Amino acid sequence: MNQTSASTSQQHVLAWAQLQDLAEQKKTKIDLRDLFANDAQRFEKLKINAPYLWADLSKNLVDDAIWQALLQLAHSSGVEDGRVAMWAGDHINNTEDRAVMHFLLRSPANAVLANDKVKQAHALVHGTLNPMLAFAEKIRANSQMTDVVNIGIGGSDLGPLMATIALNDFATTGKRMHFVSNVDAHEINRVLKPLNPNNTLVLVASKTFTTAETMANAQTAKAWFEANGGTEIAEHFVGLTTNLEAAAQFGISTTFGFWDWVGGRYSMWSAIGLSLAIAIGSDNFKAMLKGAHEMDEHFKNAPLENNLPVALALLDVWYRNFMGFTSRSVAPYHSALARFPAYLQQLEMESNGKRVDRHGKPLSYGTSGVVWGEPGTNGQHAFFQMLHQGTDVVPVEFIGVKHPSHHIAGHHTQLLANMLAQSQALMLGQEGDGGARFFPGNRPSTTFVLDRLSPESFGALVACYEHRVFVAGLIWNINSFDQWGVELGKVLAKNIAKSLETGDTQGLDASSAGLVAALRA
Ligand code: F6P
Repeated sequence: MNQTSASTSQQHVLAWAQLQDLAEQKKTKIDLRDLFANDAQRFEKLKINAPYLWADLSKNLVDDAIWQALLQLAHSSGVEDGRVAMWAGDHINNTEDRAVMHFLLRSPANAVLANDKVKQAHALVHGTLNPMLAFAEKIRANSQMTDVVNIGIGGSDLGPLMATIALNDFATTGKRMHFVSNVDAHEINRVLKPLNPNNTLVLVASKTFTTAETMANAQTAKAWFEANGGTEIAEHFVGLTTNLEAAAQFGISTTFGFWDWVGGRYSMWSAIGLSLAIAIGSDNFKAMLKGAHEMDEHFKNAPLENNLPVALALLDVWYRNFMGFTSRSVAPYHSALARFPAYLQQLEMESNGKRVDRHGKPLSYGTSGVVWGEPGTNGQHAFFQMLHQGTDVVPVEFIGVKHPSHHIAGHHTQLLANMLAQSQALMLGQEGDGGARFFPGNRPSTTFVLDRLSPESFGALVACYEHRVFVAGLIWNINSFDQWGVELGKVLAKNIAKSLETGDTQGLDASSAGLVAALRA
C-alpha cells in the first residue's frame, strides 16, 4: 500500500466511524418533518439533476452533517479513483481478471478514450453494433418473419425483456416478441405452440453459450423447428454470445458477439439487445445508447456532491450500514416499467450480494439489501400496508413520468397524484391514538422524475442504477462484477438430475434424498 492509499484508508475508517457516531446520536431522533420545518430550501438543496431525469432526495433521513459525512466516505473510499480505473479498462473485476467496460457499449464513435486498449475494444464495439443494427433492420423489413423468440436467462433475458416492455410505445413493426428463460418447459411450450417455424426468428442469447437452461431451451427450439417443417436453421437461428465457437457447434451461422468485459447483467446494450433493436429499430436503440452515454458522462465527470449515482449509493450505504434497513422497494409509476424491479434484483443483488471483500476477506458489515417492488398503483393495493405501518422501515423509490404517451383524460393526473400521495403519507404519517389507524410517518423515499419515458431517458435511468451499484460496491470494498454465488447450485443440480433419473441417492443429504424419492414415486 502506498502513502496515498494508506492515508485514504485511514480517512475511510474515520468517515465510517463518524457516520456510526452520527447514527448513534440521530437514528431515533432524525425526523423528516423537522428537517423540512427547519430548512425552507431542503427540497431545492436535495434535488439532483442528471441527464434526462432528476431525483428528489429531500424525503430521505439525512441532514447536512450526515450528508457531509457520507460524501467524506465516498471520497475516502476511492470512488473517484474507481471511476478512473473503470474508464481506463483496469481489471477491476479482479476475481475473474477482467476489465469492466459496459460504458463502451454506448460510447459514440468519436468518443475520447483513455488508452489504446480501451480504443481497441471500442473499435470492436462499433464493428459489431453496426452489423447488428443492420440485421435488426433487415428483420424488421421482412414481413414473413412475424415472431421473434429470445432464449436466454439472467442478464441475457431480464434486460432485453424489461427494455422491450418499457419501450413498447416505440415498437412499430407489429412483430411479436417472445422471451423464454425458464428451463420449465411449460414456458417454451406455451410460446412455441402457436408459432410457425418458417415465420419465426430464434435468438439464442447467452454470454457463455453454456448455461444449462438456455442450452436446453435452444435444443428444444431446434427440435421444434425441425419437427414442424422449418427448413433453414441458418436463417432462423441467431447466436448472441462471446462464445462464437460454441454457437457454431450448435449449428448457428449468424452470430453477433460481445466480450468478456461485459458482465451478463450489464449486457442489454450489446448484441444481447438484438431483440430490443428488432422491436424498436436502430434509431431508437441508438437513442437509448445516447441516453445511457450521457448518464455515463454525468457519473464520470460530475463532482461527487452533484452526482446522482453517487448520491443514491450513499443513501444505500447509510440505510444499510448505519440505519439498519435491510431492503428497498422500487415503485415505478409507469406500467411499462413493470419488469424494472425484477431487472434491478439481478443488477443489484448479483452485483453486491457479497460476503467477502475484493480480496476474499469476510466482511464485518452488510452489503446489498433486498431489492423488490411492483409498479404503482398496483403495489398500493398489495404491500404498501407494510410500508406504511409495518414494523420495518423500507426506503421506497418512486419513478414518475411527467408526460404520458397516451391521450386518455384523467388517468395520468390520478397516477401522479397517487405517487405523490404515497411519498407524502410515508413522510407525514397520520396522528392517531397509536392504534390501527395511526401512521408513524418519517418513512424515507426518493422520487425520480423523467420528462417522458423515451429511449433516451430509459437508457439514462438504467445506466444511473448501474453506476449506483458500482459506487456502493466501491464503498463496501467488494467486487461488484463477479457472481461466484450462483455456481454451487449449478453443480449440485447436475448431480441431483442424475439421482432423479436413476433413483440413486447415495451421497445426498437425508432431506434431499427424501425429496428425490418422493418426486420419483
Ligand atoms: O448464473 C448467473 C449468470 O451467469 C448471470 O450472471 C448471467 O446473466 C446468466 O447466468 C446467464 O448467463 P449466460 O448469458 O452466459 O447464459
